[in-house]
Amino acid sequence: PGSGRVFSGIQPTGVPHLGNYLGALENWVSLQNQYSSVLYSIVDLHSITQPKDPALLRNNILDMAASLLACGVDPERAILFQQSQVSEHSELSWILGCLTSMPRLRHLPQWKVKSKQKNEGSVGLYTYPVLQAADILLYKSTHVPVGEDQVQHLDLAQDLARIFNYHYGDVFPEARALLSSTRKVKSLRDPSAKMSKSDTQAMATISITDSPDDIALKIRRAVTDFTSEVTFDPETRPGVSNLVTIHAAMATITVQEAVSRAKGLDTGAYKTLVSEAVIQRLTPIREEFQRLRADRAHLQNLLELGNRRARELAAPVMAEVRHRVGF
Ligand code: ADP
Ligand code: NA
Repeated sequence: PGSGRVFSGIQPTGVPHLGNYLGALENWVSLQNQYSSVLYSIVDLHSITQPKDPALLRNNILDMAASLLACGVDPERAILFQQSQVSEHSELSWILGCLTSMPRLRHLPQWKVKSKQKNEGSVGLYTYPVLQAADILLYKSTHVPVGEDQVQHLDLAQDLARIFNYHYGDVFPEARALLSSTRKVKSLRDPSAKMSKSDTQAMATISITDSPDDIALKIRRAVTDFTSEVTFDPETRPGVSNLVTIHAAMATITVQEAVSRAKGLDTGAYKTLVSEAVIQRLTPIREEFQRLRADRAHLQNLLELGNRRARELAAPVMAEVRHRVGF
């Protein structure tokens, strides 16, 4: 395995959808075999920039833990933990916040978009990227798998590492982005938009724990166009191209191979082929999720073990930081 430390986080939003799986989680699983030290965090602190129902949040944390494990995150190869249970995240976030100017945060995309949607955002939403920087720096991480939408946040983490080092001496390495695949899964109902948990339209998203019947139905209803031949042209034929993307990813074949397997099939018949590939790939994940989720105590123990290992890594870094700062 490569030297260096990988860190990534995901919000506890319940069971991930196919876009999360293909755009992020599949990559997490492969990274745990490529790097010697890997941490994956369920970032619950990040999820309360707007208050959540506590019982629902607790449930979503366990759903996410079970989902990650079911997708193949291996606690022997990666430390899987719950952010809030390692209090150093919040402590480092404060210190980094004191090194961050207000204008630096004002222009970051998440604030610009979400604060407008809400008319007025919380301080937590505003300083969210500082907490993200703390997540990364707390473990002296060197590699951070991110989607394109997060690159500006990683830039802030890099700046804050430099600013801290400038004021207090060399502590933090520079963390580099590992851009995860540019593969984007689109909404099944509106292929001009990405598949997203915030899409409330029925049958727009496939959850990684959907039943075979649900998967087949959703794909059957997927919006395509009036041409029956299957081609891959995301610009002019986003609907059918999305099915090709999904098919190729789930069957681990190239897009070209997927198109050639569709030869002679109209989109209706092709949809059956696509759902078979999705069902085949997701069935073991769904079964493992159900097995894990049925034993709450075991799941909580697994997380607690990860929390302890994360604390062991965080404590000495935080001790060093406190000393450098003058505490
Ligand atoms: P959502 O858009 O459903 O809110 P998040 O923003 O929480 O999902 O994203 C979690 C991870 O999944 C990120 O790494 C993001 O890049 C990836 N991701 C989300 N939606 C998609 C998609 N439709 N296609 C590919 N990757 C996606
Ligand atoms: Na999002």
